[in-house]
Amino acid sequence: MTKTQVGIVGAGPAGLTLARLLELEGIETIVLESRDREYCEQRIRAGVLEQRSAELLRDAGVGERMDREGIVHRGINLQFDGERHYVPMADLTGRTIVLYGQTEVVKDLIAARVESGLPLQFDCEVQSVDPERGIVHHAEGALECDLVAGCDGFHGVCRQSIPADTLTLVEREYPFGWLGILASVAPSTAELLYAHHERGFALLSLRSPQLSRYYLQVAHDENVAEWPDERIWEELQIRTALDGWTLHEGPIIEKGVTGMRSFVASPMQHGRLYLAGDAAHIVPPTGAKGLNLALADIRLLAEAIVHQVRTGSRDLLDAYTDACLRRVWRAEHFSWWMTSMLHRLPGGDPFDLELQRAQLRYVTTSDAAARSLAENYVGLETV
Ligand code: FAD
Ligand code: DHB
Repeated sequence: MTKTQVGIVGAGPAGLTLARLLELEGIETIVLESRDREYCEQRIRAGVLEQRSAELLRDAGVGERMDREGIVHRGINLQFDGERHYVPMADLTGRTIVLYGQTEVVKDLIAARVESGLPLQFDCEVQSVDPERGIVHHAEGALECDLVAGCDGFHGVCRQSIPADTLTLVEREYPFGWLGILASVAPSTAELLYAHHERGFALLSLRSPQLSRYYLQVAHDENVAEWPDERIWEELQIRTALDGWTLHEGPIIEKGVTGMRSFVASPMQHGRLYLAGDAAHIVPPTGAKGLNLALADIRLLAEAIVHQVRTGSRDLLDAYTDACLRRVWRAEHFSWWMTSMLHRLPGGDPFDLELQRAQLRYVTTSDAAARSLAENYVGLETV
């Protein structure tokens, strides 16, 4: 049987970043990924990197293109009741965010791994993990590991390999989803716009000076075939309209619907198996936290593994779940709160609507409330 120090299941941002951080510490890893390289490099997902996430990627030696092509943002716009308000996050917190697509992060990490000539096996589906013995069963055989990192996302097999009676799962589904598009058109706003509208939420984001990434609240089971390009633009125009401002349209090059859920599995470890990222927790995307949480787990997991390899002490590995879950639950609360404040709730209860409007007025008029939003959005340092 092949042996390695750390077997990593999944070549998403979590698995690839862990592999890279351990490589820099001289720790041996093998990464197994069920999809092919092209699929992993084309999958369009998140776009907002907290300052800490950007720093982690720099520490991993993969920040060069991000620093060249990523776009630093100092605030976000919130729109409601026909008015647009700016939340100056950098002034309120001293920190910024970087707009750089998850797709690009993954491309940079794969390129670094390939350049190092280290094992990264695509088209290799893991079937199960034996957490007690550290054995990973995959399409082509088995891998024996001192430690296994389960970085295989929400639908992966690692979480399911932990005995069900030792896991607590906490979950909430939301009665709506997001239709996301990538359009070949210059962004119409310099920074992100989160819009609350009676027809539903809309978000204007971007990927580059020529590429815009836009989202619309839709039904959770929405059929994307019912959204021809004209209908998408019409709805975006209505939900983001503002006197004296124009939303520019262009060819739509990608579209897809994402469901919205909050989910936390605890503990995030069992025997030799440690879960990280979406394998252990999901947030609704409104707070832009999913990718950032995955990278925050990896920072802790890499530190704990290095500590164990260097000193023989399991202290940090034993403390891994508690250390991660403090940040995860803060982000769960923030993401739920942003989601609840900005989406049209089915049923349209006037009480809910007035609470949303009161909260939006509060965060756009009170420095204390704006700072609370901003410090969560840019990423809290203290959890
Ligand atoms: P993933 O990126 O899911 O990576 C897991 C990897 O494991 C994948 O490559 C998968 O192919 C592989 N894998 C799965 N099963 C196996 C197996 N059995 N064997 C081997 N490999 C396996 N977050 C935001 O903040 N904003 C957004 O707009 C946003 N949009 C999203 C849209 C979609 C459709 C999805 C699914 C997520 C989105 N997210 C968003 C969340 C964010 O992208 C995730 O939090 C992030 O991808 C987590 O990284 P990860 O490495 O933990 O998991
Ligand atoms: C993006 C996604 C988000 O979920 C968000 O809150 C902000 C931006 C994006 O894909 O750019």
